[in-house]
Formats: sequence, C-alpha cells, structure tokens
Amino acid sequence: RTVYVNGEYLPETEAKVSIFDRAFLMADGVYEVTSVLGGKLIDFDGHARRLQRSLGELEMQSPVTTEELLEIHRELVRVNEVDEGMIYLQITRGAPDDRDFVFPDPETTAPTIVLFTQSKPGLADSPKAKEGMKVISIEDQRWSRRDIKTVQLLYPSMGKMMAKKAGKDDAWMVEDGSVTEGTSNNAYIVKGDTIVTRGLSNDILHGITRAAVLRFAEEAQMKVEERPFTIEEAQGADEAFITSASTFVMPVVEIDGVALGDGTPGPRAARLREIYLEESR
Ligand code: PDD
Repeated sequence: RTVYVNGEYLPETEAKVSIFDRAFLMADGVYEVTSVLGGKLIDFDGHARRLQRSLGELEMQSPVTTEELLEIHRELVRVNEVDEGMIYLQITRGAPDDRDFVFPDPETTAPTIVLFTQSKPGLADSPKAKEGMKVISIEDQRWSRRDIKTVQLLYPSMGKMMAKKAGKDDAWMVEDGSVTEGTSNNAYIVKGDTIVTRGLSNDILHGITRAAVLRFAEEAQMKVEERPFTIEEAQGADEAFITSASTFVMPVVEIDGVALGDGTPGPRAARLREIYLEESR
C-alpha cells in the first residue's frame, strides 16, 4: 500500500515519523476518517471543515490546503485501487528536538501529516446491518472537549474492549445520567416517527454522518429531536442506531442485555441506512 507522509507518496514500509513526534509522546494530534464507496469520497468537504476546526481549537496549522488535501485523498484512492473502505488522515504538532509540555514554535517545528487507505470490501453490505449491534453502557471518562477530533483514543479503545469482553459489539458512554455517544459513533433512539439524538456541544463529536443522516431523516418526513436521553429511555425505545463514517447507519438491537422491540433492526434505521448509501454512491 502507498501512504502519504509529509509531502511524499511512499510504500508503507518506507514511511517514517520521528519518535519525538508530539502525537506519539502526547497524543497531540487530530484526525479524520473519510469513507470511500465505489471509489468515491463521501462528504470530503464536511471532513475537511471539521479538520480545520479541530486544528484551530488546538492552535495548530495545516501543512496543506484543502485543495491539496482533496488531491492527496484522490491520489491514494487511485494508486491503492480502493473501491470500498476509508482514508485515515492525521495531522500532529510535529516533532521538536526534545520532549516538552510547552508547544514547540511553529516557525521551527513543522506539523506532521500522514494519510493511508484501508480497503474494506463489502463495507456497505456488512452483515451487522441485518443483525444489528448489541451495546453496553459505560461511564464517559473522556476529557471535556470531545468536539475536537484528537487522537486521544485510549478510553474509547478501553470501552470497545469492555464491550468485547462482555460479548457485545460496542459501548455507549453515559455522563450525568444521559448518553453522550458511542465509542466511535453518534447514538440515536427512535420513538414512533421521531429520531432522538443528543444536541451538538463540546460533549460529543459533531459527526459528519450525523449531519447528513438528520437531513435525510427530515426529508423522509421523520421528526428529529436533538436532546439528551437516558439508557432507560433507550431501552424502552422502538429502535436505536449509530452513525459514523466507517459504519454509515448501523442498527442497535440490545442495550445492557435488554432487547429493543422484537430484538431485530428497526425499519427507520434500515431506511436511513438505505437512503444514506443511495445518496453517497
Ligand atoms: N469515528 N463520535 C465519535 C467519538 C467518533 O470517534 C466518531 C467517528 C463519530 C462519528 O463521526 P463521523 O460521522 O464524522 O465519522 C462520533 C471515526 C469513524 C473513527 O474514529 O474511526
């Protein structure tokens, strides 16, 4: 596979990043994951905008323009012949001469930029979409700026492991009694014709898939309520689902051992997945 590192396209085995890189030592970096369907990038503009916002919030600069970024994405999809899958992009504060908590001077320390592709044939036809996911709830122990897409992913990784050890698929995180989001996705419940999902704030990542799916839901005459909900309310809902660039729309059929409805994916989640895939292809 060919990857992109600081201006160069290289075989993955030749790509190098310094051991002093701030992301390696301090998780001082931001990332984006953009999906590819039929060789086409999904929602590149949304991901590019959120990347700029993440960088701005952390006083970091992008080493490339948005136009260059689009070109790099397209080139990697082309050379790696990605039909279905995703592109991972990471920008870090770079590699100063020494480890230091103080940010390095951007005049002397350039940011590091890395992109690679991941082919996932069959991503859109994932059997999980028909089975549905089982989730557990865990306490949300992340920092309070979850709107910034940083590479500090240890707690979300631990959450996925807790789910895996419990024989489930993922974890929904709970803070002050209500669900914030999934470990790597936004969380939704459905009651009648109403989709309920937490509103945008620093408590959650502002999902690019979320924005698209809420727009499609309204176009399909579903109502959208942006407010927090509890695990108990979710367990009593008709349906539930998650969204993310790597899963699109994925139904949730069980929360903390309680089946939702008849325990099979609900019609609205299935419909939204269908619309999302249709519109993206
Ligand atoms: N995760 N919430 C969190 C905590 C996330 O990490 C993600 C994305 C989302 C969904 O955002 P979007 O729709 O823009 O992908 C919500 C990516 C896919 C990942 O870490 O792999």
